[in-house]
Amino acid sequence: MKVLLVVGTRPQVIKLASLTRALTDSGVDFSILHTGQHYDYDMDEVFFKELGLPEPIEDLGVGSGSHGYQTGEMLIKLEKAFERLTPELVAVPGDTNSALAGGLAAVKLKIPVAHIEAGLRCHLPFMAEEINRVLLDHMSRLLFAPTTTAFSNLRNEGLKALATKPGDVMADNIKLFEGMLGRVDLPAKLAGRKYAYVTVHRAETVEDAKNLERVVSLLASIPREFAIEVAFAVHPHTRRRLEETGLIAGLRSDAIKLLKPVSYLTSLKLSKEAAFVMTDSGGLQKEAFLLGTPCVTLRPVTEWTETVRSGWNSVTDLDSQKVGRAVRRYLTSRPRSVNAIGLYGGGSASRRIAESIRAAVT
Ligand code: UD1
Repeated sequence: MKVLLVVGTRPQVIKLASLTRALTDSGVDFSILHTGQHYDYDMDEVFFKELGLPEPIEDLGVGSGSHGYQTGEMLIKLEKAFERLTPELVAVPGDTNSALAGGLAAVKLKIPVAHIEAGLRCHLPFMAEEINRVLLDHMSRLLFAPTTTAFSNLRNEGLKALATKPGDVMADNIKLFEGMLGRVDLPAKLAGRKYAYVTVHRAETVEDAKNLERVVSLLASIPREFAIEVAFAVHPHTRRRLEETGLIAGLRSDAIKLLKPVSYLTSLKLSKEAAFVMTDSGGLQKEAFLLGTPCVTLRPVTEWTETVRSGWNSVTDLDSQKVGRAVRRYLTSRPRSVNAIGLYGGGSASRRIAESIRAAVT
């Protein structure tokens, strides 16, 4: 086996859908190694099944814990796994602790690293994903930027010689799966309803009880002020925080539908049919844009600047006035349509990445 894809979390597994198909088509000999960072059926296995992914060659079973513990356990276990499996190249998608540990364990063994989704920056100093991205980009030999902004960031950090801009594998996923959405059912309690599709999971949003309280009051205000329902797919960590703080009581309303984490195709369907999406997830901001649904982003900044420039995404943080203005605008007029997929490589990112990887290992 020449190429090892290291993943551990929901968004990374989803990125494998188009990537593994393209690697297979390019004749690259690859396997998937799972760190076990995500382990619930709804956060992990469901995606392997639904997206028809190859089984991981190993699951290191690292699980949850503090960032230092989680990353450290992964490093120890990944190093042993790389020594056993002897990959020629390690490829990591995204910016999670699993991605950082995969990259670091590899370079310490002098195995070259390819970073898929390189160059994203939000310039927040203590954000876990920002730390992971910067470190990963500066230790990798192949940097695959999803957007022009990401490519410029790499150039500004002196990494131009290692970087290319193949586009975004998530756009390829939309191209692969959008045609199937006609056959995917919305959760029964949402059929025929007008709703906002909501997710929040980032540590910055859910760890701080004050921020979580602001989220709950924003969600409670939507049915009241805009006469539409809320479909809230709740990450297990978010649910635990809502229960610990007692804030879950503020979401008990017929107009707020709490859902378990949903499968990828259900999430795409929920985004496509929603009046708008409201989230602190990066992936969902982009999926909404690619599916023609406006998005309200509950963060102070976004890495996906093109979604904002084209008028489809409002970065409001947890400011109720900004959220209110954005929702009102999106419910009364549609942003101008743009060639969204064209901004992310036109749906050919995985093929380009697979070709570069094949050239690097043969
Ligand atoms: C991680 C990533 C984040 C990504 C997100 C997608 C890092 C630093 N963060 O955040 O970038 O957007 O995945 O979900 O890597 N838990 C479960 N079941 C699971 C997994 C997690 O219950 O299968 C709970 C545990 O209580 C755990 C908490 O969620 O402690 C946080 O999980 P963790 O993997 O540390 O980070 P995420 O918040 O999922």
